[in-house]
Amino acid sequence: MAWRERWDERIREEHRSLESQVEVLERILTVDVSPEDRRGALRWLVGSLRPLLEMHLEKEEGTLFPALEHHLGKEADPLEQLRDQHRELRSAVKELTELLQGSRGFHWAEVAGASRLFVDLWEDHEKKEDRLLLDVLEFGLRPQELNGLAQALR
Ligand SMILES: [Fe+2]
Ligand SMILES: [Fe+2]
Repeated sequence: MAWRERWDERIREEHRSLESQVEVLERILTVDVSPEDRRGALRWLVGSLRPLLEMHLEKEEGTLFPALEHHLGKEADPLEQLRDQHRELRSAVKELTELLQGSRGFHWAEVAGASRLFVDLWEDHEKKEDRLLLDVLEFGLRPQELNGLAQALR
């Protein structure tokens, strides 16, 4: 039988690539460099992470969340949790971007706190998506429905 990509491979690949950027962000927080260098590195990292994160969230909201809604119903609790987390992630990365731009002055403790908050939200969200989104769809949908999702995720 020919090898076939798993239906959720694209999304898992995006999770891995965002996760590795989040790990770099964590490393920048502890590396022993000058505050200016750390700020520069964080600005660069957050500047590249934010559009990737946004593309990823939109892809899930446009494809996987509607499939989950169709499967579980509009008011389903997992869906609400995931949507709330997307809102929180967007607001955390926006706050971090603004702090790094420094228009309100630059305070390292605030930047470190906002970075930590973003990292924690991301990690919690990724774990929830494995269980509440990908596993639920995997076990709840028929193979042809999963194929349809795989096409839409390309
Ligand atoms: Fe995700
Ligand atoms: Fe998500």
